Amino acid sequence: MAISKQEKLKKSISFIKNCDLKKNATNLVFSDGNLNANIMIIGEGPGAQEDIAGTPFIGRAGRLLDKMLNSIQLDRKKVYISNVVNYRPPENRRPTEQEIARYLPYLTSHIEIINPKIILLLGSTALNSIIGNDEVISDARGKWNQMKIGSANPWIIASFHPAFLMRQPQQKKMSWVDLKMIRDKIKIL
Ligand code: URA
Repeated sequence: MAISKQEKLKKSISFIKNCDLKKNATNLVFSDGNLNANIMIIGEGPGAQEDIAGTPFIGRAGRLLDKMLNSIQLDRKKVYISNVVNYRPPENRRPTEQEIARYLPYLTSHIEIINPKIILLLGSTALNSIIGNDEVISDARGKWNQMKIGSANPWIIASFHPAFLMRQPQQKKMSWVDLKMIRDKIKIL
């Protein structure tokens, strides 16, 4: 059941018209991980390696994400991973507000299909897409909010994007605080 809904959503994204992201990209980067996961992770958008492979978070940031997951006894078989936009922004630029808004209905459907108990928003683009523009990631991170997203009602937490952590490794200690919050939350949900 979930598989066919997921395939349908993937197809409808592939039919998107007049999208500069799609025009410049090689592949649609839809998701990785377990359809039945309790935890959904949302990044910003595919990078160069993800664009070639059609799989999210497989480059350097992805390897750090894998380590972060391992640190709380998780891996890709236990979580579900997607992005705010499904095509690589040229030169890895941040998706525009219009692009974020255009892909939000797809992301909402994606969240409804997976229906996770927990959503981890990685970085400010995912934060802005789901929560809005009023908060910056350094203030919003490390707080639980339960929120209705379409028919889903997940607990949401934001944290730093692994690409940011590679540039600012001194922030890894805050990321660890957030990861432990997720580890503890899973136990009681
Ligand atoms: N960064 C992201 O936000 N998503 C990816 O898939 C890869 C890098």
